[in-house]
Amino acid sequence: MRRKIIAGNWKMNKLPNEALDFITELEPLVKNSENEIVLCVPYIDLFYTLLNAQGTNIKIGAQNMHWEKEGAYTGEISSEMLKAIGVEYVIIGHSERRKYFNETDEDVNKKIIKALEVGLKPIVCVGETLEERENHKEKEVIKNQIEKAFKNIKDISNVIIAYEPIWAIGTGKTATSEDANEITKFIREEILKIYGKDVADCAIILYGGSVKPNNAKELFEMSDIDGGLIGGASLNAKDFANIVNYNI
Ligand code: PGA
Repeated sequence: MRRKIIAGNWKMNKLPNEALDFITELEPLVKNSENEIVLCVPYIDLFYTLLNAQGTNIKIGAQNMHWEKEGAYTGEISSEMLKAIGVEYVIIGHSERRKYFNETDEDVNKKIIKALEVGLKPIVCVGETLEERENHKEKEVIKNQIEKAFKNIKDISNVIIAYEPIWAIGTGKTATSEDANEITKFIREEILKIYGKDVADCAIILYGGSVKPNNAKELFEMSDIDGGLIGGASLNAKDFANIVNYNI
């Protein structure tokens, strides 16, 4: 059985004191969950949340990283830096980074390789735009994103994939559980073609895009959806806890 991962993506939200308060509020609400709980927070909040989450079942992740070890890259953060302070997960290739910061599939590939090299678990985002979906191109787009993201990567056992249809992010429009499952299943088939059945059966594939306490259960109980990447609803500890506890 694949484990479920419920990951929050705070995006550019929460000051350090708010982040500390959030962990304090969340911890008792989710302490009985057997799901893997991850909060991907802004760089500035990493250290505070790591300290406050010590000894709890809450794991901390970053939202981006550079693929170089060190050097003249003003404003960037390396995977080694994240690893050194105890970060476990890192989101790579979120659609907002692709859209606003021109991240390409090649950048995504370099970042995944580097993250794995230092022992971080990348949460790799893929997904189609509304236009691509309306033109029935979603599978083609996602297949292409996957092939490029995983180019020359032999072992993806520490990789988590998040299917996030761009039209469903922050819009309140969730993909139906059937549509979301169809694409996660399709992603699993693509993984099977590249890595074989054993790897595909174990691959963790999340759904993201307007997941809320009232739709989490239906989505996460689908055959191929192994949890979620939660944006807006992860900013409120009670809402996020209700999503984490969907199966309690
Ligand atoms: P949302 O964001 O839950 O606010 O739609 C999801 C994401 O961007 O990861």
